[in-house]
Amino acid sequence: MNLYKYISESINNKLGFAANLEVPRNRAFGDFATNAAMVGAKSAGKNPRELAGEIIPKLRDLDFIADASIAGPGFINIKLRDDFIWQSAAKPHNEKTTAPKKIDLDYGGYNVGKALHIGHLRTSIVGDTFNRIAKYLGHTTKSYNHIGDWGRPMGLIIAWILEYGMPKNADELNKIYPASTERAKNDDAWMTRAKKITAGLQSGNPEYKKIYDAFMKISLAQMDTVLHRLNLLPFDATMGERGVAPYVADTQKILESHNLLTESDGAMIVNVKTDDDTAPMPPLMFRTSSGTQTYAAADLSAIYYRTQTDNPDIIGYFTDSRQNLHFQQVFRVAKMANITNAELFHTGFGALTGSDGKPFKTRDGGVAELLDILDMVNDAVRTRVADAGKTLDNETISSIALAAVKFNDLLHDVRADYVFDPNQITSFEGRTGPYILYTAVRLNSVLKRAGNITNTTAPELTDDERNLLIETLDFERTVHSAFENRATDMIANYAYDLCQLINTFYHNCPILRDDIDENTRAKRLTITQIARDTLATAIDLMGLKIPDEM
Ligand code: ARG
Repeated sequence: MNLYKYISESINNKLGFAANLEVPRNRAFGDFATNAAMVGAKSAGKNPRELAGEIIPKLRDLDFIADASIAGPGFINIKLRDDFIWQSAAKPHNEKTTAPKKIDLDYGGYNVGKALHIGHLRTSIVGDTFNRIAKYLGHTTKSYNHIGDWGRPMGLIIAWILEYGMPKNADELNKIYPASTERAKNDDAWMTRAKKITAGLQSGNPEYKKIYDAFMKISLAQMDTVLHRLNLLPFDATMGERGVAPYVADTQKILESHNLLTESDGAMIVNVKTDDDTAPMPPLMFRTSSGTQTYAAADLSAIYYRTQTDNPDIIGYFTDSRQNLHFQQVFRVAKMANITNAELFHTGFGALTGSDGKPFKTRDGGVAELLDILDMVNDAVRTRVADAGKTLDNETISSIALAAVKFNDLLHDVRADYVFDPNQITSFEGRTGPYILYTAVRLNSVLKRAGNITNTTAPELTDDERNLLIETLDFERTVHSAFENRATDMIANYAYDLCQLINTFYHNCPILRDDIDENTRAKRLTITQIARDTLATAIDLMGLKIPDEM
């Protein structure tokens, strides 16, 4: 149940006008507070405290309210009835959206022939969690891994392979692109050759295509490895720059029919600047002067393709913020040419930095590869566990490391940079993934030791018990807001707040101790179970795995 919504709507209905419901920081005086008396004062021609005196008896009439009282200049504090909280919390969370949408999600966007690096971390984690949230709410999603598999890098890689032979594995393959790029810097002939090969590949040269297919296999396998290690949902489609190539011609026709294409130095561009632009807004490049397909053409053609086949209500993109301008240009052209009616959104991420505020680098100063980062965090967990004198199996260590990386990533506002510190994120205390998992493991272990739980009805609740239950009743509101605001950090922060209340409850409310009577034990076990189920759902939305022990 969405408690907040229920209470807010019931009060508004009862009073006949809309007031704001607030959740006080300190719940000692009430579970909620309403500003109804302040909102209604003017039209009633009364002062707020006077009106509050009239509103309070009406609120007391509502069957879920235990007490209502005036606070400050005219706020009304509301305390809910214990039995109402109890019964509401016992109902499973399953509030689906009343307006299910078809949503195409574009995240991952890995590149063929290149190692996945730190820049692919957030798009994978946040995109996957957003996908899980949308599904949970009952939307229909289709996830696209729009891979980089058709541009100049392909020409550079093929040129190298033609000269030095086929790489045997991903490690060898991943070295080719940087090496070939380096060579092209001082060797014009090499660059010209790479450009020609790129154009040749794009127009169907069979020799190039054969090489391309061979290293493509290596790359796709490598992407799969990363997908598993990050515990991501499988992509519904791996269809990137090459996959949309057959739709570029149609897309071009649409642009032409709207008179949007202009020639510029042999290239084809679309001017997207409007009079309202204050920031620079360069034209979108649809085709290069050497005739090759551009990054922007691929994205426009993908929108065209998705609209024709999926006909989505929304298309959402998750990339780093350096692509903000690109997506602004693409979205403008898509709307100018009426390629889609879908709502288009792009979430641009901040970077992961070292403690110096500069992009995170490995110890030897290189760009951190994604698998290296996971290994680094794995090692940090292993050290911590050993220091604490514990032994945990490898699978558990991996689950903890994964939680450390993903939870920390989700926790931050997606647009902001954050400092990536393997040591800090693996701590078992504070706002960390291990802390979240530890709390879940603790609840599971209490429930396991307890065995069957006997039924109890409408018990009295202590503050710690009611605060925890009320928080579980805020879960659905959180998931809806996370979706509406495209703010996956809300789920992570909610999970943390819930864990705080769980641990307070755990410390103050003994459950299995001998001196606890049967009724109290049953009540607390029921609360434990509700809290565990809610936390487990949140953990699932973040794509983390709860180990058996920690
Ligand atoms: N391959 C690109 C990169 O690694 C990201 C692709 C993002 N998605 C898109 N539809 N353009 O930078």
